[in-house]
Amino acid sequence: MLFGTQKIRDNGHLEVGGCDTVELARDFGTPLYVVDEEFLRDRMRAYLAAFSARYPKVAIAYAGKAFLPMAMARIVAQEGLHLDVASAGELYTALKAGFPPERIVMHGNNKSRAEIDMAIDSRVGRIVVDNLFELDLIIDAALRKGIIPSLMVRSNPGVDPHTHRLIRTGQEDSKFGLNIRDGSAMEAVRRCVGDPHVRFCGIHCHVGSQLMDAEAHMQAAEVMCAFIRDIRDETGAVVEEVNLGGGLGIRYLESQQPDTIERYAESIVGALKAAVERYGIEPPTLGQEPGRSIAGQAGITLYGIGAIKKVPIPEEPGHRTYVTIDGGMSDNPRPQLYEAVYEAFVANRADQPRDMRVRIAGKHCETDILIQDTMIQQATPGDILGVQGTGAYNYAMASNYNRLPRPAVVLAKDGGAEVIVRRETLDDLIRNDLLPDSLGPAPTGSTAV
Ligand code: LLP
Repeated sequence: MLFGTQKIRDNGHLEVGGCDTVELARDFGTPLYVVDEEFLRDRMRAYLAAFSARYPKVAIAYAGKAFLPMAMARIVAQEGLHLDVASAGELYTALKAGFPPERIVMHGNNKSRAEIDMAIDSRVGRIVVDNLFELDLIIDAALRKGIIPSLMVRSNPGVDPHTHRLIRTGQEDSKFGLNIRDGSAMEAVRRCVGDPHVRFCGIHCHVGSQLMDAEAHMQAAEVMCAFIRDIRDETGAVVEEVNLGGGLGIRYLESQQPDTIERYAESIVGALKAAVERYGIEPPTLGQEPGRSIAGQAGITLYGIGAIKKVPIPEEPGHRTYVTIDGGMSDNPRPQLYEAVYEAFVANRADQPRDMRVRIAGKHCETDILIQDTMIQQATPGDILGVQGTGAYNYAMASNYNRLPRPAVVLAKDGGAEVIVRRETLDDLIRNDLLPDSLGPAPTGSTAV
């Protein structure tokens, strides 16, 4: 299972972006996130090409929540995509990287007043309204500032996709957006349309993540087009854009086979065109917000292998081999959160058969199993373990649990590697800690009781 520019060198080492991963691990330390720049750019271009070849008006945004260091924002800007940000932090990162504000879509289901102010002041292209309370805050801020923001209404289409319950969002019982069926989404549209301080520009939905095909998006397109017709009939407003959110899944396991971007685009555009026809509406701009399927497979995490131990188990073959790595749930919490699955291999022996059955364990004070049961090449302490498909929602969700410094991120391309996020140091870990004078001094000598 090799992605993008990955190949296996004659010396058995895995190569990414023309770089030997074993050398990367040696030069930059482990754990290390390595991102394949060419593959990343290819995925962005593939999305733009697949959708614009099939539909006249498209707005493809990269979902920054998946992975958004400043260098990533810069690449997205260069490739001509829009950018979905979901917090002041993501917005700040994008603006600092020089991302054109008019191409930014501001999300968030509980935007603070400060976030709303920041989005309006920086003149982002669109703000996606999650609820009526927030709409009032936005209108109030717009009025105060004399700036007219363009708003999309996050609508809940009532589509239940088949994916892990924690990354399902399109079903009615969800914290996100405004329900279409009970009239709250229409109420928000009516208020937007009727208020001169804001501009209503479209409707938005996101059905779920890690979806292997466009089935749920197609259902959503249908519901959203019916809603567009109702909006026209009830308010007279034309919906300029319908955004169907993110969602194409990726291949974490060899056995998983997500649709290609081409087929995915074909299905969505087909469903949208049919629904536009059926409801007799003006064809809206089609928006999409892929995150995982752009960044996910472009990333690999390299770990140093430490202790390897055999423990007895009641089942066959009577023992289990634990391979311990120098990271774990702090650099990848997905297995604990979503029972996420991954494949791994020994990067310095990638040419050898995978004939060692192991459980990969992290180094946290938790049972942070990264992979429950998998086959890797014969491993010994000091080897480098590569875990595939970690470009999305890994660095983005990393923490300092157990006070582990977060790993560095390097961008590999044409045989060169650039650090785009520095590895945290021990001093970074205590940077925000304070020892108030009122606590008094550290004791001298042994005061243990
Ligand atoms: N647009 C909106 C409004 C979203 O909420 C999301 C993801 C996306 C786009 C991008 O979806 P994607 O193309 O990446 O599937 N932390 C979880 C994933 C949470 C996804 C949240 N929203 C994970 O690690 O699986």
